[in-house]
Amino acid sequence: MSEQLYNNEVAFELQTKVIDETRQGETLTAERPKSVKANGKKFYIESYGCQMNFADSEVVASILAGAGFDSTTEFMDADLILLNTCAIRENAEQRIRFRLQHFRGVKKRKKGALVGVLGCMAERLKEKFLEEEKIVDIVAGPDAYRSLPDLIEEAGSGQKAVNVLLSREETYAEINPVRLNSNGITAFISIMRGCDNMCAFCVVPFTRGRERSRDWQSIIAEAKELYEQGYREVTLLGQNVDSYRYSTDPTLVGKKLLEAKYDDSVVNFAQLLEKVALVAPDLRVRFSTSHPKDMTDDVLHMMAKYHNICKYVHLPVQSGNSHILEMMNRTYDRAWYIQRIEAIKRIVPEAAISTDIISGFCSETEEEHQDTVSMMEYVKYTLAYMFVYSERPGTLAAKKYKDDVPEEVKKRRLQEIVDIHRIHSLESNKQDVGKVFEVLIEGISARNDMELYGRNTQNKVIVFPKGDLKTGTYANVLVTSCTSGTLIGRVES
Ligand code: 5AD
Ligand code: SF4
Repeated sequence: MSEQLYNNEVAFELQTKVIDETRQGETLTAERPKSVKANGKKFYIESYGCQMNFADSEVVASILAGAGFDSTTEFMDADLILLNTCAIRENAEQRIRFRLQHFRGVKKRKKGALVGVLGCMAERLKEKFLEEEKIVDIVAGPDAYRSLPDLIEEAGSGQKAVNVLLSREETYAEINPVRLNSNGITAFISIMRGCDNMCAFCVVPFTRGRERSRDWQSIIAEAKELYEQGYREVTLLGQNVDSYRYSTDPTLVGKKLLEAKYDDSVVNFAQLLEKVALVAPDLRVRFSTSHPKDMTDDVLHMMAKYHNICKYVHLPVQSGNSHILEMMNRTYDRAWYIQRIEAIKRIVPEAAISTDIISGFCSETEEEHQDTVSMMEYVKYTLAYMFVYSERPGTLAAKKYKDDVPEEVKKRRLQEIVDIHRIHSLESNKQDVGKVFEVLIEGISARNDMELYGRNTQNKVIVFPKGDLKTGTYANVLVTSCTSGTLIGRVES
C-alpha cells in the first residue's frame, strides 16, 4: 500500500516539474490461479512509460500466470526477466538500455535465465534489438503477448524469439488482467488500443498500430468485477478515448461505423461512459486521454449528468500556436482548442483541466512559443506534463522537418513553461482553501502514517489526519492549506 502511495506522491510532486515518463521502472507481482499447475519458473516484470503500458503488464502477468509461471519482485530470483518498454522520447529508450546492463549478472548466475523486452521499444526496433543488445532473448510487441508462452519456449531451446506483428483486432478483451501491486481501490481498464492520429512527432501509431475498440460488454464486466472486489475508481484508458466506437456487427467498419445510429449494438464513448457510470453510484469513473479534435459535447454532458464521472479532463494542447499545430498534424488550431475549453467551462464548470505540452518543436520561434505561454495563461491548467521535443526515427516530423531548435533554447522554453505552470497550480490550489471536497481515500501517506491521502473529483491529491477512517471509503474533507502540489485538510464532522 505505502509503495503505491509513494509512487502517487512522486508522480504528484513531479506534476510541476518536467516529467519524462509518467511512471518508470515499477516492479510488479501477480498470483498464479490455483487451477493452473506451476511450471516451477518465476517471472519478474518492470514497466516503463504510459498508463497503457502498465495496464498491458497486467495482461502479460495474467497470460504468464495462466501458463504456470509464478511472479517475483527480485530479478535475481527470476528465470524470466521482462521489461515493458516505452519509445516516446529518446531518453526513455536510453534508460531501458542502461537498465538491461543490470541483468547481465542474473544471466551469468542462473543458467537458462531469459531476458525479454516488450512494448513500444520492442516494436520499434524489432529484430535489431537482438543485434544491438546481446543480452536480449525475446522481443514481443504490444499485440503479441498471447504468444509469450511460445516465445519463451522457443527462447528456452536456444533460439532467439521475436513477435512484433501488429494486429487490427487484438484488444485482449477476455483476458482478465492480474492487478499488480494495486492499492485495491483504483484500477485501469483498457478500452481501446492503437492510434490512427498520426501526430507528426509521435511514434505511437508505429509501435501500437491501428486503432481498435474493445467490446463494451467485456469492459462493463471488468468494471463490475472490480467493484465487487472493493475497487471504487476505474480509469478508462485509450490513446484517444473520444474515438471509441464498438459495434457488434462485424460488417460495420470505417465510415459506415462512424455513421451508424447508436444503440446497444453500436456504442460510442459518451454511451460507454454512461454504461460504466451506471455500474454503481459509488464507483468513480475517470478517462484518459481526450483529443481536442474529437472531444464531443455529448461526453461533457455525460460528465455533468453523473456525479460519479469525475470532473477532470486531460486535453493535450501540445502547442498554443496554430502554425505549429498544423505542422504537428494535430488537425485543430488555437481557436478550435479554445472553443473546446469554453465548452468544458460551460457544460462542466467545476472541471479541472490538464494538458501535455511539447517545447521546441521543429522551427518553433520565440513568438510561437509565447502563444503556448498565453494558452497556459488562458486555461490555467491544474496539472501539466511538459516535454522538450525529441525527434523519433520514422515519424512524419523526422521525415519532413529539421529538428532545428537548439537544445539550450528548447530547455529554456521548457523551464519558462514549467515555472508558469507552477504558479498556476499554486493559484488553483489556493482557491480551494476553505472548500469541502468529497475524497476517495486511497491510502496512508508515505510521509506520515497518521495521515491518509486521496483525491477529489478534480484529481487533486488531498492529505488529512487519519482518525478512524478506512481506505476505499469517501470522506468530506475541508481544505485548510496547500502547496503547489498538494491540498491539506481535515475531515468535516
Ligand atoms: N517528443 C516529446 N514529447 C513527445 N510526446 C509524444 N511524442 C513526443 C516527442 N517525440 C508527448 C506528447 C504526448 C505525450 C504522451 O508525450 O505531449 O501527448
Ligand atoms: Fe505508452 Fe507511447 Fe510510451 Fe508506448 S511510446 S509506452 S504508447 S507513452
